[in-house]
Amino acid sequence: MAGTRKKTNISRRGFLSSAAAGSAALAAGSNPLQAANPENMAPNVPDWSRYLGAGVAEQPYGMPSEFENQVIRRNVPWLTASTESSVSFTPIHELDGIITPNGVCFERHHAGIAIVDPADHRLMINGLVDKPMMFTMEDLKRFPRVNKIFFLECAANSGMEWRGAQLNGCQFTQGMVHCVEYTGVPLKYILEEAGVKTNARWLMPEGADAAAMNRSLPLEKALDDCLVAFKMNGEALRPEQGYPLRLVVPGWEGNLWVKWLRRIEVGDMPWQAREETSKYTDLMEDGSSRRFTWVMDAKSVITSPSPQAPITHKKGHTVISGLAWSGRGLIDYVDITLDGGKNWRRARIDGLRLPKALHRFYYEFDWDGSPLLLQSRAVDETGYVQPTKNELREVRGTSSIYHNNGIQTWHVQANGQVENVEIS
Ligand code: MTE
Ligand code: CO
Repeated sequence: MAGTRKKTNISRRGFLSSAAAGSAALAAGSNPLQAANPENMAPNVPDWSRYLGAGVAEQPYGMPSEFENQVIRRNVPWLTASTESSVSFTPIHELDGIITPNGVCFERHHAGIAIVDPADHRLMINGLVDKPMMFTMEDLKRFPRVNKIFFLECAANSGMEWRGAQLNGCQFTQGMVHCVEYTGVPLKYILEEAGVKTNARWLMPEGADAAAMNRSLPLEKALDDCLVAFKMNGEALRPEQGYPLRLVVPGWEGNLWVKWLRRIEVGDMPWQAREETSKYTDLMEDGSSRRFTWVMDAKSVITSPSPQAPITHKKGHTVISGLAWSGRGLIDYVDITLDGGKNWRRARIDGLRLPKALHRFYYEFDWDGSPLLLQSRAVDETGYVQPTKNELREVRGTSSIYHNNGIQTWHVQANGQVENVEIS
């Protein structure tokens, strides 16, 4: 470690000189971020310094700068037959820190976005309870509430990569994940209000969308850390994320996080719903299926450099950045390799470190301009080590769609372009 620290110090000096070289390159027009109008570039006085800008409240609800219009959700049109039962992906290659801005959280809908009037919305609790209940949104806001940051990952994240490297960009290969701060009521308070009968073991949360999406949730998990959430990152849930109410099931696959939550039935057996039998089960090589694979295993990905975020500065000081997460709690550490797994170095986790939330990691080094095979490997607090894709295939085969948490490899070429590859 001492050696690594020393190397970072040396690199930092290199960074200052290469930053100066970088602006020279910009002036020479070799940078992809080349200014549209050289007249605006220092030492000239730019246009935006000569005139008054727009006044306050010009945009009653602010939007990102127009120069950031590439930071958007994207979908893969050939993946699904319609956009109503489909997925869009978070632009994780453009983001930093651990919080996903509300406007770019990936979406997964089975029947499109339900537009729900909160005044008409109710949460029903029925089944094995002493008192069946019907809560308005106002009622729910009178329970004690909590604020918690959690990642949500769709079990199908990286699902296209089971048989080999497919899609060129971590937005598409790992972008079915987001991480926001939820404000909501612990589900256990609501269940206590209704009085769960002693033979109750399972819950069936159900959505108000046209899919009426439902899943079976063990009562134990519901009483442990599940929330009924109405806010994300301080404001109301977005319609795409289940406005006005969604279930939060920390660390477990996204499919259980029922959006537009309208009903919770309490029972003594699982319901064997479509989403836990024909879907969200994992087909093994011997023809059997794993089911109720709820927990999201530890996973990580380098978000930059990556195919949509190539290296543009030539050799010199380079920042590697990425995300790691585990449905079992905290990430203990992340290692990264530049040479396809021959040598591993410890990455630096920076910022908030919270259980079942994204963790942000960095690794700074001096790139000599030669090709790299970049990988990251996460280890969580239970000691679980993120497997290679081949290790995963040895156990699971290649017929699965869900729960692919294998190590991602990026091939960085000498020109800075990056490709999704696999190495054996
Ligand atoms: N809830 C309802 N009512 N309808 C849905 O289609 N999709 C599920 C889950 N909850 C879904 C739902 C799936 S598969 C996932 S991965 C998450 O919502 C996606 O949440 P997001 O759209 O906020 O990213
Ligand atoms: Co999903």
